[in-house]
Amino acid sequence: MPDPEKFYLTTPIYYVNARPHIGHAYTTIVADAVARRKRALGFDTWFLTGTDEHGQKIERSAKAAGIEPQEFTDRVAAEFRGLWDCMGLTYDDFIRTTEPRHKESVQKFFTLLKERGYIYKGSYTGQYCVFDEAYVDVAPGAPCPDCGRPTETISEENYFFKLSAFERKLLEFYEANPEFIRPETRRNEVISFVRSGLKDLSVSRTSIKWGIPVPSDEKHVIYVWLDALSNYITALGYGSNDPSKFEKYWPADLQIIGKEISRFHCVYWPAFLMAAGLPLPKSIVAHGWLLFEESKMSKSRGNIVRAETILEVLGADALRYFLLREIVFGNDGSFSFDALVQRYNSDLANGYGNLASRTLAMIQKYFDGVIPEAAACDVGICQDAPSYIATFGKEFEALNFSKALESLWGLIGNVDGFLTARAPWKAHGDVSENDMRLFRADVLYTAAEAIRIITALVYPVMPDAAAKVWSQLGLGDIKKADLKNLTWGGLKAGTKLGELGPVFPRAEKDAITRMQDIEQQNAKATEATQPTTPEHHTSKLESIVDGLAVAISESTSESSAVAAFTDAIRNDIHAGSQTPPAAAETQTTAVPAPAETSGIAAAAGQAAVSQENAKITIDDFAKVELRVAQIKVAERVPKADKLLRLEVDLGYETRQILAGIAEAYTPESLIGRKVVIVANLAPRKLRGLESNGMIVAASLGDGKPVLAGFLEDIEIGARLK
Ligand code: ME8
Ligand code: MG
Repeated sequence: MPDPEKFYLTTPIYYVNARPHIGHAYTTIVADAVARRKRALGFDTWFLTGTDEHGQKIERSAKAAGIEPQEFTDRVAAEFRGLWDCMGLTYDDFIRTTEPRHKESVQKFFTLLKERGYIYKGSYTGQYCVFDEAYVDVAPGAPCPDCGRPTETISEENYFFKLSAFERKLLEFYEANPEFIRPETRRNEVISFVRSGLKDLSVSRTSIKWGIPVPSDEKHVIYVWLDALSNYITALGYGSNDPSKFEKYWPADLQIIGKEISRFHCVYWPAFLMAAGLPLPKSIVAHGWLLFEESKMSKSRGNIVRAETILEVLGADALRYFLLREIVFGNDGSFSFDALVQRYNSDLANGYGNLASRTLAMIQKYFDGVIPEAAACDVGICQDAPSYIATFGKEFEALNFSKALESLWGLIGNVDGFLTARAPWKAHGDVSENDMRLFRADVLYTAAEAIRIITALVYPVMPDAAAKVWSQLGLGDIKKADLKNLTWGGLKAGTKLGELGPVFPRAEKDAITRMQDIEQQNAKATEATQPTTPEHHTSKLESIVDGLAVAISESTSESSAVAAFTDAIRNDIHAGSQTPPAAAETQTTAVPAPAETSGIAAAAGQAAVSQENAKITIDDFAKVELRVAQIKVAERVPKADKLLRLEVDLGYETRQILAGIAEAYTPESLIGRKVVIVANLAPRKLRGLESNGMIVAASLGDGKPVLAGFLEDIEIGARLK
């Protein structure tokens, strides 16, 4: 017998700067479904996932949590892995980029690229987006064109990868391999990006320590994307003493990613591989985004839903089915608890689950739990079965999961309709008992055999439910079943049913609110378990750099926003406007204002937050009117080194605000920028000028203010609450 064909598939390795949410679960579930189907079809399958643990973003998050980066990454990586295990995801390997096997292999890869003349040393000054871990081509002070966050000017002597040498080769490769990037929209984007010209890529950093050292030049660490992308080969033992897996499984057959990282996977990654003389993956597929409350679900925006919540209320299969059925793979799709429960009830509880229960219950009742022999099969069902099997396979292989499932649910509907029309539970006029028995045998065999086929097909999507139905059909352990050659008639008459029980009980009436509550409780609990050391507070503020939402990254609840806000006040959220000494004396907080930063916010005075009474109610918070405003005018105030005079537009009015940020921001860099202001602050005079409100900023360790901002383009005047 020839060796079975191999199939190697991967997911991105997820950043461990925050906990997993259903966006990460989405990609991993898709990969799991594909892996399960491939295994069922007899492929020698290898499914890799893991975590991306180096880089500035992680370094900062660890600092924010007040622990060492390694300890931080250990914790979060364990959460990812633990969740995947809890969901029964069948990855074959889980790579962490902080593992020695990865580090050693990346260093070999780097050295090889250097030896082959594709990495050289040069110097570079440019704007760096920490959030995307990428240099961006914008003027100093300008925000990142991809994510809108502030960029930082970095000047370094770096190693460069000769990306420019691959422009033509990449374009030829895309041309010759239309399947390399899917879907078409992503392919076109990537091609036009490459056509517009490729610059050499800086592949080392001296500004950070948390990374893999460049071999024999250890003040440099390897660029986190070169480090991360290499995982797809290092996990297979590339460059190690045992490269057997690499030899067997590389190149990857399918690399699944989210669309925002197409450039890294479809341009840099193949260029690195070409430079190393290694074969390229056969196909990279970029899916769309899971949206929640209208924007991309993401930890930095704080609009996340955790998989755990759905597992607890509806189970893993419900989440898997929903994600694969509801979202057209490749497009963006919305998640909502309403839609989830709706699908669960209509397609699973009333659909597949109900069909299986009623059919098996009738076999139990009329045939003592033994599959009856059919004399004839219903033409509609059994003749159509092969085409349903073929369509499901074709659509699934093309990664059109939604279509595959939609079609299969067409068969479920037909079988359901067939049962209802034949009504084998009813007396049918003058029919003899024997004829009635034959009639019932035909109908129930047909339904049961259809259910067997549906179950075999749906197994990769809903492994738990399929396993239950399979054993209820009397077929034993589905994991041991041969699901390859599905043909009508595979169910043998005389098979004794297993123990019956519900597969998908109807969702409770309060399922939606329960899930919402769990999310909120979790958010609160997360907040309560946060360490309350001063470092924690400072660094929590620091994370406001990534947009205010990062401060509530682990949660979505209002209460954590409140906590973040009160932390901010207690720890000297750097009042944009300088508080005159008199005001500082009147505020009641027990935390002394650091001498050189004059700004315990006047808001703190107003909210009267004291150490003993540190918790405020939502009503207290509601008193603070935080709004988005756009800076229209910014200028220095004569004889005040720290102060800028700003005019900000709130949509409904323009305000003058004096802010103590002149040492951190040039006036020019602020024009047009959207900021968060405390809009209902009593006016005060500074240097003879009236200040009407305060700009919200975080305070870095050195007392430098960093303005809070948003990732999305947000409407001026919008209230934060
Ligand atoms: O980008 N909708 O990691 P990451 C759909 N470490 N998919 C989503 C999603 C959403 N709202 N949010 C996350 C990184 N994902 C790098 C990758 S690979 C060598 C390095 C999924 O933690 C999706 O697969 O930001 C996306 O590409 C990935 O998580 C990004 O995870
Ligand atoms: Mg991301």
